[in-house]
Amino acid sequence: MIGERDTPTGTSLYIARPLRISNPACLTCHSSVEVAPKTLVDRYGPANGFGWNLNEVVGAQIVSVPMDVPLQRASRSFNVFMTAQVAVFVAVGVVLNLMIWLVIVRPVTRLSSLADRVSQGEMEAPEFDSGSKDEIGNLAASFNRMRTSVVQAMRMLDN
Ligand code: HEC
Repeated sequence: MIGERDTPTGTSLYIARPLRISNPACLTCHSSVEVAPKTLVDRYGPANGFGWNLNEVVGAQIVSVPMDVPLQRASRSFNVFMTAQVAVFVAVGVVLNLMIWLVIVRPVTRLSSLADRVSQGEMEAPEFDSGSKDEIGNLAASFNRMRTSVVQAMRMLDN
């Protein structure tokens, strides 16, 4: 049998199994005082451990360990693990958002406001320099080229 039981010192887990006399050799010493070796009786006395029969359950072997300490330890490590997990997620989220804002949102917003100004006829709007060689940088370069072309086309129309 395996189970839990409440003790004054807290819950404990136990495993209990019967001690059954399955081996006839046990009975040379445990069947009766008369049969048992005399030296054994002399040493241990005739009171206990005799009169057993084959396949009889003569006792129980019980191992019991307190559960509160391991449970506390497990829940503490679980809490530490979860806290660390949440902290890592939050940190990654913050860093990721910051990176996206720095690398994508800010230059695209500036470029779009510049494009707005040019589209409203403000040809003197400054060149856009994203300062990077990534996709945003390419976009800025394309935008600057397009603006130069638009400016030249407008001049040709004016003439
Ligand atoms: C050579 C003799 C001998 C044989 C064979 C023997 N025992 Fe024992 N047994 C003893 C003695 C002597 C004690 C008492 C030991 C003590 O009190 O320190 C004892 C004690 C025990 C006890 C504890 C009994 C109590 O009330 O505390 C159990 C259980 C037990 N034996 C089971 C067995 C089983 C099962 C076998 C067969 C696999 C077996 N014994 C074979 C001599 C023997």
